[in-house]
Amino acid sequence: MNIIVTGGAGFIGSNFIYLELEEHPEDRIICLDNLTYAGNLSTLEEAMKNPNFRFVKADIADIEAVHKLFEEEHPNIVVNFAAESHVDRSIADPSIFLQTNVIGTGVMMDACRKYGIKRYHQVSTDEVYGDLSLDRTDLFFTEDTPIHASSPYSSSKAGADLLVLAYYRTFKLPVSITRCSNNYGPYHFPEKLIPLMISRALADESLPVYGKGENVRDWLYVEDHCKAIDLVMRKGRLGEVYNIGGHNERTNLEVVKTILRELGKPENLITFVTDRHGHDRRYAIDPTKIYNELGWLPETKYDDGIKMTIQWYLDNKKWWEDILSGEYTRYFERMYSRR
Ligand code: NAD
Ligand code: TYD
Repeated sequence: MNIIVTGGAGFIGSNFIYLELEEHPEDRIICLDNLTYAGNLSTLEEAMKNPNFRFVKADIADIEAVHKLFEEEHPNIVVNFAAESHVDRSIADPSIFLQTNVIGTGVMMDACRKYGIKRYHQVSTDEVYGDLSLDRTDLFFTEDTPIHASSPYSSSKAGADLLVLAYYRTFKLPVSITRCSNNYGPYHFPEKLIPLMISRALADESLPVYGKGENVRDWLYVEDHCKAIDLVMRKGRLGEVYNIGGHNERTNLEVVKTILRELGKPENLITFVTDRHGHDRRYAIDPTKIYNELGWLPETKYDDGIKMTIQWYLDNKKWWEDILSGEYTRYFERMYSRR
């Protein structure tokens, strides 16, 4: 099969490409990515050596480039990871989130309609459900939880999800959607909580924790997410949404303290800063449906996964130091100087 993976130079997409090349060597993978600040071609260096892999630099919202690629590659499956993905950036400037996350999704699906496809899979997020309160730990997001997005990021992802389901109903486009909780692992861009805290702790810099650090995220090791996507795109029912998560809820403060402990750094590096606007309190996924229908269960326990992740950042300093020495440094100053 020919599989187009959009956003494959980013965090989850690149992990997914390596999983596919390993587990399905018979398939051809075409990565479509326009290399925004979050796309890093060096991440795909090993994949480039594989004759079954091709990288194409283009915007998913560029109709001409997307149609050209479909004519060249005749894809059987499209998996759409490409997105603007950082909540703080969406608060600073929402417009590119609408352009890529909503318009881009529409362009990809229109190409699928025109050229025909076996499956269009949309990689979505639990953030489309909004948040849960901190004191109702008995509540979880199911696939029937109403869409109730809070940030420009999550509302753009919610808009895309609605469009995908509309294309299923209106045009019978063979679609599926996965909504996953927070991922962590290798190649995570150092603007997100875990890699940001690792890289700053290693440099003995302050660790900016929003508010009181009480917000809860449900962490899943990235490889487990990729395995779930692989299952759903090959075997999941068409027109369906599947939640993905591993019941690993932690407060942000717990996560940061674990990182400091593992690195042997003092807790006085923690600095409480002004809270994020509209900050979602708690995310928690109920993954019963994907377990019942497809037998998916996460394989990596949080306690092991976080150690493996910290070790990866220690072993791959060049990967993230190259990022920090570039545009990212200026971005960091812009985002945090007023906090
Ligand atoms: P990322 O920001 O690390 O990577 C995004 C990639 O998409 C980059 O390579 C970037 O260059 C590319 N891209 C951005 N705009 C593009 C465009 N217009 N055309 C082509 N390529 C473009 O993101 P990520 O964390 O890997 O997330 C991937 C997907 O998974 C996103 O759709 C996100 O909403 C979803 N998701 C992420 C998480 C998480 O914890 N990171 C959890 C659930 C769902
Ligand atoms: P993030 O990695 O941005 O993911 P998301 O907002 O999509 O869940 O943030 C995870 C949590 O960590 C979130 O509650 C915000 C918090 N956070 C901080 O406290 N400090 C930071 O510098 C960052 C980037 C996030």
